[in-house]
Amino acid sequence: MNNRVFTVGTLIPGKIAPVRNSPTSTLVEKVEPKQRSNEIKTHFEKIIVVQGSNKFEISPSKGKLLDAALNQGKPINYKCRKGTCGQCTVQVQQGPGLSKPNEREQEKLGNEVNNGYRLACQAVIL
Ligand code: FES
Repeated sequence: MNNRVFTVGTLIPGKIAPVRNSPTSTLVEKVEPKQRSNEIKTHFEKIIVVQGSNKFEISPSKGKLLDAALNQGKPINYKCRKGTCGQCTVQVQQGPGLSKPNEREQEKLGNEVNNGYRLACQAVIL
């Protein structure tokens, strides 16, 4: 973690002022390496699911996995949205923050829930 000291002079675009030791005339801001934090965020926060031959990367947003996917233009197949038809079945390859399979998923998918299969209309992003 880097601590950078900003003075009034550093606020001028394109100009970097020397660091001063006067605490009354400086602002201290913690600066994280942006690119590195974005890489980490992208790698760990995306939900990756496979449906048939299609692979979808979904950015987490609270609510149903299916709704998040559709809102982001990821065309996951679905029909009933009630957990009965199984059309929205996906295999989760990476799914941080997903709820545990509910009763409908366990009933519809059986042992496949242990292999990462979920009903996108029932899986909730927490
Ligand atoms: S849309 Fe029918 S089970 Fe999900």
